Parts: sequence; structure tokens; C-alpha cells
Amino acid sequence: MTVRISDDAVAIACGADEVAAAFIAAGVAVERVSSWGMQWLEPLVDIDGVGYGPVSADQVADILNGTAPSLGRIADHPFIANQTRLTFSRAGKTRPLSLDDYYASEGWLGLAKAREMGAQATINTVMASGLRGRGGAGFPAGIKWQTVARADGEQKYIVCNADEGDSATFADRMVMEGDPFMLIEGMAIAGFAVGANKGYVYIRSEYPHAIAKMEAAIKLAAHLIAPFVVEVRVGAGAYVCGEETSLLNSLEGKRGEVRAKPPLPALEGLFGKPTIVNNVLTLAAVPWILTHGGDAYAAFGAGRSKGTMPIQIAGNVKHGGLFEVAFGITLGELVNDIGGGTASGRPARCVQVGGPLGAYIPPAQFHLPLDYEAFAAADALVGHAGITVFDDTVDMAQMARFALEFCAVESCGKCTPCRLGSTRGVETMDQIIAGKNVEANLALIADLSETMKFGSLCALGGFTPYPVMSAIKHFPEDFR
Ligand code: NAI
Ligand code: SF4
Repeated sequence: MTVRISDDAVAIACGADEVAAAFIAAGVAVERVSSWGMQWLEPLVDIDGVGYGPVSADQVADILNGTAPSLGRIADHPFIANQTRLTFSRAGKTRPLSLDDYYASEGWLGLAKAREMGAQATINTVMASGLRGRGGAGFPAGIKWQTVARADGEQKYIVCNADEGDSATFADRMVMEGDPFMLIEGMAIAGFAVGANKGYVYIRSEYPHAIAKMEAAIKLAAHLIAPFVVEVRVGAGAYVCGEETSLLNSLEGKRGEVRAKPPLPALEGLFGKPTIVNNVLTLAAVPWILTHGGDAYAAFGAGRSKGTMPIQIAGNVKHGGLFEVAFGITLGELVNDIGGGTASGRPARCVQVGGPLGAYIPPAQFHLPLDYEAFAAADALVGHAGITVFDDTVDMAQMARFALEFCAVESCGKCTPCRLGSTRGVETMDQIIAGKNVEANLALIADLSETMKFGSLCALGGFTPYPVMSAIKHFPEDFR
């Protein structure tokens, strides 16, 4: 009998350590594995493929004597069976720091393939896959890699952006905690492809488990990725350090302030050297692409949004978790069919996709397919594909105010539209909420949003108008 229990931070927060200890006390060996990503079922106990969850320590005896109700085979659960897991193919199955488990599940095949085919063919494969930056902007990864490969200079860097700061996002964390060798392999492939011998993983300080796992995995894998070297750097809590140039400043030991682009980091990045800055999910997709081929990856998806996206479903939702699927799935399917509707049982009023800077989308637009172009055409963001669900008790004027307040708190202060606009926006929104000069103040907010959208130096100030204006557009009754 093999008992598997996750040691992912969510599982631990829900009591997985206590449940594991109860099995061990009953004389049963436990394997601590990554999480399946069905967070509402954590702590999930997997016994030879059959699931029990959420389990508390006092239910362990019933599970062992066969009287506890089971969820059936985990792989057949609709939440898992309806996914296309490429990046998360090992989720729930392997021990995060076991090189044996990693080898036994296609580990290191991508790096071997890259070394065999050569640097340019590796870049061509990433290009053919259609992989786009999973951090939010969706820039083609292959083009970025090619730019760095062609840039002049002996010293080049790979920087992995693991400053996962968006609301409702946790896929980067799950990769680092559950499958750290995959990320290290992706970085080593990138290093080989562009001629970089050094990589940094910039992880937010709020992820202590991810930091510990990555540091341990880097030590274990050092001889396998040599001469490429990876180091972890820990952020200090600023949301704006997820913006690539401010992240680079922070890595260099400077204040986390945004730099003007150009120069692009691909040409003048870390310490002024050509640098790939890619999100965790972008680099984590690469080993699969090299192992199975660019065309195999590009066969998934819709239009110019190729491959799969690990979608994170959270907020007021019954079945929150990680759902990896090809681009093209609709929001309605994600919220109602997969998410099971709201946790409160009340009607869903809207979802916010793409973090605190993403638009609020009402049920009338739940037919929207998850695809970069379709979302852009609807004035919305795919972003890092975190979906926060709200029921009909949400006050959208307060949500619009929150977006402006968030921007004011997190602004790096470099440019005026964001630094001053966000604070003036909060004041104006307070007037609206108090019912003072509502029409005139709403016109002022629209004007301010235009200025912030087109006059801000980075996405923090530039995208804050999305939640604000979408809330006003779709829910006017909350403002008047
Ligand atoms: P961007 O569109 O300016 O750039 C995207 C990437 O492509 C950057 O790495 C840039 O350096 C690179 N690039 C652009 N042109 C290039 C060229 N010709 N050659 C090589 N590389 C090139 O977008 P930005 O400002 O980097 O990111 C904005 C996005 O960040 C938003 O869409 C938002 O969704 C996302 N975001 C994500 C967060 C998260 O927690 N993951 C938090 C906040 C925002
Ligand atoms: Fe800094 Fe805001 Fe300007 Fe971005 S938009 S550079 S966060 S002040």
C-alpha cells in the first residue's frame, strides 16, 4: 500500500502534516508528493490511486479499516480527467525532491534533446511551439530567446520571474514546490540555447516553502546542469518587482524601481548584459516542448494562443484549484462547470481575470474563450490566468476603489500618472461612493484612466484603468 499526501503549502495549511503523522503513527509509510491541485479537497490522501479528502487526522483509522467514503480513482475525477496536463503532468504523483522520480517521469529528457540538437535548433523548437510569455504579456518566448542569442557579449543571464504577486495566482508556487527540477531543467535549456552560464530565480519572500524547495533542488541538480549555475534570490515584498526591469534592479541590489524600455532586457538586462527574463510557467513548459517537439505543443490551443495554460481558479468558488487546459476554453465552463459555481451558492456576479490589474467580466461575457487576442478585443487581460470569482454581494464601486488604492500603495513612484493619478483616483472614487457630484466625478475618473493607461511607464499604472473602467461599464448601478 502506498499512501501519498502532498507537502505543498496549501495542503500543509489545511493540516496535511497532521494527517501524515497519523498514518505514520498507525505504522503506515507515507510519501510526501506534490499536490494534484484540487485545493478544496486538501489534505487529499492518495492510497494506490484512490483518493480521500479533505481528510483530518481523526479520520485516518476509518480510512485504514475501509469504512471511510472515498472519492474513487483520483485520475478519473472530472476535475483531473478533463485537463490536459503537460506542465503539471507530475502533479500529485512525484516527490518534489526525488531525482529518481524525476528521471522516471521524462525528467532531463528535454535538456538531453537540446544538447543533442544544438542551440539554434533548440530556439527553433521553442519558436515552433508558439509558446508565449506566461507571466501575462504573452510575448513569443522563441523571439525573446533568439534576441538574446544574437545579442553581443560573452556574459548573458537567465532570470526566472517567480515574484508571483497577482491575486488568485499560485501556479508558479506549485511548480516550485511540487516540481522544482522541471523549472531548473527549463532554465538550463534556456541557458544552453542562448549561451548563458548563470541563472537566477527571483522568488517572492511570501513563498518560504518554494524558496526552500528550490534551494534544495538546485543543490541536487547542480552536477546535471553544469556548467550552467542557478541561484535563488528572495524579493522583499514589492508587487512592482514582478515587473521585469524593477526585478532586475532589485536583483542588482538597487531600489525596486522600473527602468524605461528601451533598452530591452534581452539586449541590456541584468548588470547591463543580455538577459532572458521569463516567468516560471514559461520556463517550466520548455522541457515538455523539447521532449515532445514544438509541433506537438502547438497542436494544442486556439488561434495564436498555442499550447496549454495552467489556469488558477480562486475566490468565491466551490472547486478552487489548478486546471491546466488548452487555450480556448470559455470562462463560463471554468466558473460554472469546472469551478462548480460560487462557494456561497449565490449567483456569480463577475470574475476578475489577470490579477488586480485585470478587468471585471460579467456573466454576459462568460462565452469569452481564454485566448490572448479574444481577451484583448474585449478590453480584458489573460495575464497570469488567475480567475477570482465574486458572487452578487460584491460592491463594484468598492472594487474599483480597491484597484486605485492598490496602485497607490504599490506604485514605485517613478512616473506621475501612476504616482499621483492613483491617489487622486482614490479620492475621486470616495466622492462617488459618498454620492457627491457623481456624474462629474465619473467623467473625471474616465479622463484620469485615459491618462494612466497611455501615460504610465509600466503595466502597474497602465493597467489599473482596466478593473476601474470595467467595473463602471458593466455595473453602473453600483456607482450611482
Ligand atoms: P511588455 O509587453 O512590455 O513585454 C513583454 C516581454 O517581451 C518583456 O519581457 C519584454 O522585455 C519582451 N519584449 C518586448 N519586445 C521585445 C523584442 N522585440 N525582443 C525581445 N523581447 C521583447 O509587457 P511587460 O510590461 O513586461 O508585462 C506586462 C504584463 O505583466 C501584463 O500583461 C500583466 O498581465 C503582467 N503582470 C503579471 C503579474 C504577475 O504576477 N505574473 C503582475 C502584474 C502584471
Ligand atoms: Fe512606477 Fe507606477 Fe510608473 Fe510603473 S506606472 S513606473 S509602478 S510609477
